[in-house]
Amino acid sequence: MNKIEAMKLAISEAQKGFGKVSPNPPVGCVVLSPDGDLISKGYHRHFGGNHAEIEALEKIEEETLKGAQVFISLEPCSYEGKTPSCAKRLAALPIAGVYYGSLDPNPRVNGAGIEILKNAGKRVTHLSECEEDAKSLIEVFSWNVSHNLPFVAGKVGITLDGHLAHSSGKSQWITGEESRKDVHLLRAQYDSVLIGKETLLLDDPSLNSRLSEYRDLENWVIVFDQKGSLLDRIDEFQISKVRDKSKILFVVDEELKHSSSIAFGCPVDSSGFFDIPELLKRIYKKGIYSILVEGGARALSSFVEQKSLHQIYCYIAPIILGGKSGINWMSDVFHTDLGSAMYLENVRHKSFGNDIRISGRTRYK
Ligand SMILES: NC(=O)c1ccc[n+]([C@@H]2O[C@H](COP(=O)([O-])OP(=O)(O)OC[C@H]3O[C@@H](n4cnc5c(N)ncnc54)[C@H](OP(=O)(O)O)[C@@H]3O)[C@@H](O)[C@H]2O)c1
Repeated sequence: MNKIEAMKLAISEAQKGFGKVSPNPPVGCVVLSPDGDLISKGYHRHFGGNHAEIEALEKIEEETLKGAQVFISLEPCSYEGKTPSCAKRLAALPIAGVYYGSLDPNPRVNGAGIEILKNAGKRVTHLSECEEDAKSLIEVFSWNVSHNLPFVAGKVGITLDGHLAHSSGKSQWITGEESRKDVHLLRAQYDSVLIGKETLLLDDPSLNSRLSEYRDLENWVIVFDQKGSLLDRIDEFQISKVRDKSKILFVVDEELKHSSSIAFGCPVDSSGFFDIPELLKRIYKKGIYSILVEGGARALSSFVEQKSLHQIYCYIAPIILGGKSGINWMSDVFHTDLGSAMYLENVRHKSFGNDIRISGRTRYK
């Protein structure tokens, strides 16, 4: 195995921790012999549990580690937290060197793990070829440690002409099976999925991840319902059949916050929209560190209007619905000219069957 293959394997190991390690980042580790043979691999399995390095090294005799190379998707931690410092543990082993995919953005680490290894005489190499993938693994964590707020992504499946549903409200299914499978992977990466009331009524989605490896995850669901009009009907919906009700929040007008155990109050602005920046502060305090906004158009547009959507995953299907018969997914957003439009950064394209996914980070003016 060469060093790039080893780091890619470490990154795919890290992905196994999606949905289980929050608010920690998912991390994977691979150990190769001096000849490039795989000795061991591991990942951070759950919050509070062993870090990836320890998982990978735990059962290996020190003798076997002589001259080994260790590949870690994230710089090893430098301080004792819920577990001992991984950098110190690695420094004490007879390994030759460490390759890492990305620096730890946590100010308590951010280079300190590397210093410990270098001071112990280990060769430390940043594998820049894999940095983009390694960074995208930890984008929620990076946002959390630098802003103390949840990271918010929007996901939408649209026609080639920009509609997320027929004007009758029907949207199942615009995108193909492969795209929908990818959405199940996305759901596993986010602590919660948020939808507007109309989407709950029209689509009655489950909003969990149905990939076999994440089937036992219970992600949060957040529903925008100002007047709390659906609170009494919660048992009718799929969202409450696949998760405990303690993992469901209905965001309602501040005055209705005591109307039900699942009601979560938020101030409403003069145009009748929730104050989303304030909502994000409250949601973070509740221990929800990331949100995937899955629609509909009004919910998604309001996040953009309030500059609170940080990442977009847009699945585009080769279907033309026509401007007179569809709902545009950014229906409530208005720009005076092209120059004031929002552009995405770090844009990526990926194919899923006949669909294309365009994703990127938002940049607000
Ligand atoms: N293709 C896809 O990927 C996809 C995904 C999801 C949904 N859809 C489709 O989208 C359509 C629904 O979209 P939609 O835009 O009509 O409805 P929506 O966003 O699901 O729900 C709209 C309602 O939610 C509440 N709401 C949303 N954002 C709010 C905010 N910022 N502040 C306060 N309240 C807010 C409001 O209800 P109250 O004022 O009554 O509280 C609003 O009338 C459906 O046809 C669905 O099938 C498609």
